[in-house]
Amino acid sequence: MAQHNFPPLKNDRFLRAARGEDVDKIPVWIMRQAGRYLPEFREFRTKHDFFTICQTPEYACEVTLQPIRRFELDASIIFSDILVIPQAMGLTVEMRPGVGPVLPEPLANPSDMSRLKRPDVEKDLGYVGKAITLTRHSLEGKVPLIGFTGAPWTLMGYMIQGGGSSTMAQARSWLYRYPEKSIELLQLITDIVIEYLVMQVKAGAQALQIFESHADYLNDELFKKYCFPFVKQISERVRAKLDELKIAKVPMIVFPRGATLNSLELLAKDHSYEVIGVDWNVDPVEARQRFGPDVTVQGNMDPCAMYANENEVFKRAKEIGEKFGKTRYIANLGHGILPDTPIVSVEAFIKGVHSV
Ligand code: CP3
Repeated sequence: MAQHNFPPLKNDRFLRAARGEDVDKIPVWIMRQAGRYLPEFREFRTKHDFFTICQTPEYACEVTLQPIRRFELDASIIFSDILVIPQAMGLTVEMRPGVGPVLPEPLANPSDMSRLKRPDVEKDLGYVGKAITLTRHSLEGKVPLIGFTGAPWTLMGYMIQGGGSSTMAQARSWLYRYPEKSIELLQLITDIVIEYLVMQVKAGAQALQIFESHADYLNDELFKKYCFPFVKQISERVRAKLDELKIAKVPMIVFPRGATLNSLELLAKDHSYEVIGVDWNVDPVEARQRFGPDVTVQGNMDPCAMYANENEVFKRAKEIGEKFGKTRYIANLGHGILPDTPIVSVEAFIKGVHSV
């Protein structure tokens, strides 16, 4: 393994919880913690385009550190986007203000798959690795650094749909019209994701999160066929590759946003991931009952609960911590923090979690 000589880690609560070890306090981090609710991020964005920040290690590092400087968070997550993979596969991705990501030339039908290339991950996505290595050094061991990817079905959704959608109808119709081609596309993305995650660990990522943000479009049957096997393959093959390279394995988190409880249970009981992320529609007590004691759960306060007053946010954060309990739990929101969230709510959320 490349010798990085990273500074020793001072706060390992997040990693301990992921591995099921005891913690002094519940660890907490926030999805999209580097983002537009921070004035310093908005200021940075007036000067730099979104993907330029992702592609410039010094910029990505700076933005990753912004929330760590301000708050008592227990983990950092590298600033990037899940759509860097479709980009590396040759599709154009634009980030349009007020709209979100747009792929102007999505895959209209399976013959368009010939437009996709198999990227050279080290070369085409090497900038993410460089950002991770630089950030690991710049964090000075304060908290661990999480690397991430989009899961295959979520990326397939964007590649076919061309952007966000309330129905994902185009992408979902592929699953019925072209099941074999869908599996071929999912497998191609899976192979790239595996190389990409291994590269991130080589570069210094201390944990990995797989965002299956479009799991809400899959019923149990579709989840079993188009999500579960690929997500499972990712964890198994990443671990095998790290073993082969004699690199220590890192905890892996899967976040299938909006998945049914049956689907979540299937994943949890498979034990291919140390941590299952749950959105705010999942009841903490029921999740624990159905997942069993051997998996760490991450989540799940409603991002909109952050609009309540400070005292209320503190109280709710504490309550969620008590419901999940101090063992095998990582506090987070149930989805990404919203751009107009008050800063005082973030402080109250973290304090509430740490008070348990
Ligand atoms: O702080 C962090 O969590 C790390 C950075 C991060 C971003 N995107 C930065 C970002 C992470 C982990 C992501 C993941 C991501 N990107 C997901 C999975 C998580 C989820 O929300 O389900 C998804 C679906 C995407 C795709 C994406 N990128 C969307 C849908 C959007 C638009 C939504 C929005 O909030 O505008 C983005 C843009 C984006 N990615 C922003 C940030 C900070 C805001 C864009 C900007 O600054 O102009």
